[in-house]
Amino acid sequence: MRGKFITIEGTEGVGKTTNMAYVQQHLQAAGINVLLTREPGGTRIGEKIRELLLDARNNDLLEDTELLMMFAARAQHLQQVIEPALKGGQWVLCDRFTDATYAYQGGGRGIDTDRIAMLETWVQGALRPDLILLLDIPVKTGLTRASERSAPDRFEQEQQSFFERVREAYLNRANNDPQHYRIIDAAQALDVVQNQIARALQDILAL
Ligand code: TMP
Repeated sequence: MRGKFITIEGTEGVGKTTNMAYVQQHLQAAGINVLLTREPGGTRIGEKIRELLLDARNNDLLEDTELLMMFAARAQHLQQVIEPALKGGQWVLCDRFTDATYAYQGGGRGIDTDRIAMLETWVQGALRPDLILLLDIPVKTGLTRASERSAPDRFEQEQQSFFERVREAYLNRANNDPQHYRIIDAAQALDVVQNQIARALQDILAL
């Protein structure tokens, strides 16, 4: 049987890494073999593209170039890693996917959603995540957390207003498709966040 495809999304500093590990443990405890990966990245070529995208010195990178690089990395990732795993019955847990493109390049940068949808169809065909866990916190809280972690990358250098648009785009997508999205209030204590995640996984585990 084909594996399930789960993605984790959110603005900066929402706690994706900690909660990825929790999802992995939860699935493994249910006897599910899960592959963890990330975007942009997840392949040798994709990780090189990631370096270019995140390098804070690349402040001359154009918006269209950024968008196309996200999908270039995604094409590589889908063909080399995600599709073969799903076909082989493995579940895939991905740290960000195309919702991040709608949120960052669409909401944040203001690129027309139709252009993103065209690239989505081209690169992914009919493939969409089975479940999207959207970790949501106020932008300011997340940016403070992220800034305590490391020097800002090219995205983290953006203004708070950029991330407000990113968050709004994420929430709009989630609210328009409650069947596939679960909004997790990530501002709560970690055990409360993880209880919400466990509940969000119940339906997909029952399928
Ligand atoms: P992260 O791995 O620390 O979350 O960093 C990846 C950055 O790339 C993050 O700021 C969001 C951004 N990004 C996009 O802008 N569009 C995308 O499609 C993806 C996958 C990530």
